[in-house]
Amino acid sequence: MKTKKQFFTTPIYYVNAKPHLGHAYTSIAADVATRFKQMDGVETFFLTGTDEHGDKIVQAAQSKKTTPKEYADNISKLFEDLLPILNVKNNYFIRTTDPNHIKVVNNVLSKIYDSGDIYFSSYEGLYCFGCERFYQERELVDGKCPDHGVAPKIIKESNYFFKMSKYQEWLINHIKTNPDFITPTQYKNEILSFLKEPLEDLCISRPKSRLTWGITLPFDEDYVTYVWFDALVNYISALEYPDGNLFKKFWPGTRHFVAKDIIKPHGIYWPIMLKAAGIQIYNGLNVHGFWNVKGSKMSKSIGNVTDPAQVIDTYGLDQFRYFLMREMVFGLDANFTPETIVSRINSDLANDLGNLFSRVLSMNDRYFKGTVKGPDPIIEKEKNLSLTKDAQTAIDGFQQAMSVCAFHKSLESIWQFISTMNKYIDTTAPWTLAKDKTNNDELATILYNLMEGLRVVSCLIYPVMPQTSLKMQKTLGIEKEEENFYTLEEIPLWGQIKLESHIPKPEIMFPRIDTKKK
Ligand code: ME8
Ligand code: MG
Repeated sequence: MKTKKQFFTTPIYYVNAKPHLGHAYTSIAADVATRFKQMDGVETFFLTGTDEHGDKIVQAAQSKKTTPKEYADNISKLFEDLLPILNVKNNYFIRTTDPNHIKVVNNVLSKIYDSGDIYFSSYEGLYCFGCERFYQERELVDGKCPDHGVAPKIIKESNYFFKMSKYQEWLINHIKTNPDFITPTQYKNEILSFLKEPLEDLCISRPKSRLTWGITLPFDEDYVTYVWFDALVNYISALEYPDGNLFKKFWPGTRHFVAKDIIKPHGIYWPIMLKAAGIQIYNGLNVHGFWNVKGSKMSKSIGNVTDPAQVIDTYGLDQFRYFLMREMVFGLDANFTPETIVSRINSDLANDLGNLFSRVLSMNDRYFKGTVKGPDPIIEKEKNLSLTKDAQTAIDGFQQAMSVCAFHKSLESIWQFISTMNKYIDTTAPWTLAKDKTNNDELATILYNLMEGLRVVSCLIYPVMPQTSLKMQKTLGIEKEEENFYTLEEIPLWGQIKLESHIPKPEIMFPRIDTKKK
């Protein structure tokens, strides 16, 4: 039995419009991190889902002349159906309209209410309907909501408030004493700098006279719960808080993946809600930047979105996953253009990885009719032909980068090894050795090392490109499945490709994309 456990989550996405590349990125990033942890011998639980209450959904449903529930059902299904297309392996898909979720939201609200941290008060403030929240004057840009570019409306109403201010000092201290709580560091600093100003209490209700599509407050049936107070609870309702086995097993060992747009609810509201409800605080938040198009955030409200299924259809699944993980530095923004994806595919995948794989196996086919001949340890030592040190360097670099979500770096480390192997071929020049039969043992040693090196590469690309990884291994005669994949300890062990087995010439893994045609 695995003793280490880790819970991974994506945001639950709003169902006011269909999924785009930004959503796909977070889900794939969390999937990559989860697959890596599994290789590290950790038992994982991966959660994603949809956020279905609130004004936005009501408006979207109205515009389509349907009910909020029917509208939510349709869009939620699009998000759920996208997961297998992305090869994202979730353990559960939560919807905030699920009866069990609603029960847990009530439970958490009652707990906080009973502890005295929720009070009733009248309030007048600036309200952005797009964000579904009140704004403070100082948060606005030219009097407008920074996210929606719309001037908020003045709203006066009586509501329930959550005493967040009471926990401000506690939160600052918690963030400072737990360096991995919010990563990368720039986002930890952003939250700490926001917390330098006094926190306002959070309005956590909406009167039913204005909004009915929400979870009724357990202590006042004229009000529904503010959407964030409902949505954040998904992370524990999915684990069947308070008594479920999943909750006991996986909480609080959590990494939440989100983009920087929702850092405040996750970095401030959520830990304070947990604290006030007497629940252990989650382990950590991993924050990434935005995918931009021509300098502005890809978003449904701007309408500059890319459909991930379409990109996969055009370029291939693992090509898409590779591109997303290689192109974006986790934490910073990145630009999406079709040219950058084509150039990544042609240079990194077709030229570097694909070409090395077919080059090595073609040589083995040509010189040994595809039979795997053993390495000769004496020649290997004499001629300094070992690749194990370079493989270990790649593994170490990969592992270090993956453990801090530096996905691009982990791939760089693998590609460094690919380039080392290409140079190894150029310097050992197998085609010259092949001219003289007395060199056969040396030639076999070189090819065996290259094949084992490629096996190492196939293991390391697994989290990002699971299908390609398994396909490469199958070609090399190794029967691995996702369920019993290599652990990190097994990767560097040479000698896994069977001697005297037959390896066919591979098909082209990554066809080059003709840039003139596209
Ligand atoms: O905020 N670049 O839902 P949402 C990168 N329901 N990531 C992007 C992106 C972009 N251009 N656009 C969207 C909500 N995302 C709430 C969350 S959680 C308890 C409730 C991704 O549909 C990214 O993960 O607006 C971002 O944080 C999320 O989608 C926002 O999704
Ligand atoms: Mg959003």
